Amino acid sequence: MTQQTTSSTRPLRVSRAQAPLSGSIRVPGDKSISHRALMFASLAKGTTHISGLLEGEDVLCTAAAMRALGADAVQEGPGQWRVSGPGVGQLKEPDNVLDMGNSGTAARLLSGILASHGMTSVMTGDASLRRRPMKRVMDPLAGTGATFLAREGGRLPMAIRGLADPKPLDYRLPVASAQVKSAVLLAGLNAVGETRVEEPVATRDHTENMLRHFGAEVSVEKTPDGGRIIRLQGRPNLVARDVAVPGDPSSAAFPLVAALLVAGSDITIFGVGLNPLRTGLFTTLQEMGAQLEILNARTEGGEPVGDLRVRASALKGVEVPPERAPSMIDEYPVLAVAAAYASGVSRFCGVEELRVKESDRLAATVALLENNGVRTAVEGNDMIVYGTAGHIPGGGKVETHMDHRLAMSASVMGLVAEKPVEIDDTSFIETSFPQYLDLMNSIGAGFVA
Ligand code: S3P
Repeated sequence: MTQQTTSSTRPLRVSRAQAPLSGSIRVPGDKSISHRALMFASLAKGTTHISGLLEGEDVLCTAAAMRALGADAVQEGPGQWRVSGPGVGQLKEPDNVLDMGNSGTAARLLSGILASHGMTSVMTGDASLRRRPMKRVMDPLAGTGATFLAREGGRLPMAIRGLADPKPLDYRLPVASAQVKSAVLLAGLNAVGETRVEEPVATRDHTENMLRHFGAEVSVEKTPDGGRIIRLQGRPNLVARDVAVPGDPSSAAFPLVAALLVAGSDITIFGVGLNPLRTGLFTTLQEMGAQLEILNARTEGGEPVGDLRVRASALKGVEVPPERAPSMIDEYPVLAVAAAYASGVSRFCGVEELRVKESDRLAATVALLENNGVRTAVEGNDMIVYGTAGHIPGGGKVETHMDHRLAMSASVMGLVAEKPVEIDDTSFIETSFPQYLDLMNSIGAGFVA
């Protein structure tokens, strides 16, 4: 497949780590929270100061889109942003196509905002995003009265004709998706009356938390089968409130797994977000035998945060239940590397959503392992990894398909494989984890870019 790149292609050959990883690091700000902070601050009255914002390419696309819609979003220092916006219902029609880069979160959440404003807008993204399904947001959002025109299969580019007076939605999610839930809630901000979303399994709740933080009335009811019903009162008076973005647990996953696998390692990762709807990987690794301690647990900016101390550990295979998938959906590729190094067989149940991520992550993760000598299988919607008990052969080429998390997972595999691992392109790491290679080198990874 030919790939379009946003920056030039950067291949990387990763050799086995020569020494334990050690030291203390901080990972960049949470991607989910960063997108939301920029969007909600633009919909609030007054000026919001954001600290710890992720300045990866994905989030910078959101900042550019909010500016195109009339917000003032300015960087005041590293991770420090000042945002003031026109407020709910007041955004202006963008005079050009909105380019959401590689980011499904930006595209889907913004669809909810665009559908609920009386304007016409057009949205596109890079080759990876243009392959991803948008029908999952178009279908519910059409209930507001907005109209959508997209490519075959509901793919970007897509035109949206929104309404200044949208109808409130009442929607039950057919798939567990925080992006779809958030798109519906964002559309509800400018609708008179109550918007109601029901999710079959609880997904990350940063939208609900942050809407409350900015003054919206949001209620959450747990259903007996583990789902949730979220209700939002429309046309709230959103008022600017400062936001402190915690470190991204999905980014912490890479140094964390690297330190678990490289013999003798002992690292600490400061200030990692520990929202219980994001920590499925930590639970799973602990079940595998990881020496992973949470220190100094605290609340920062309304989100639970802690420091992670990680020591190299002998891991064993694990079965991950399907209901845990939403709380670790972005972590399966790096978990697969941990499972490949572990002893015994691992089964990740119900991981079908991986097929519609930045790449088909199920196929790409299988290829990452198989091309490096690790046996895998896919049975229905389950992925199975046959652990090598510390003997990943390596020596394979990895195609990352414009997917940042595959590139980082492959780099972790290279640190413990017997022969070097060749990664076709690491440039997409910039979407979520700027300076990844340098940060990993600061704890001793020895990546040679
Ligand atoms: C996200 C939700 C998840 C996740 C993505 C970020 C969010 O996607 O994979 O990286 O910020 O809401 P889905 O909603 O498609 O599961």
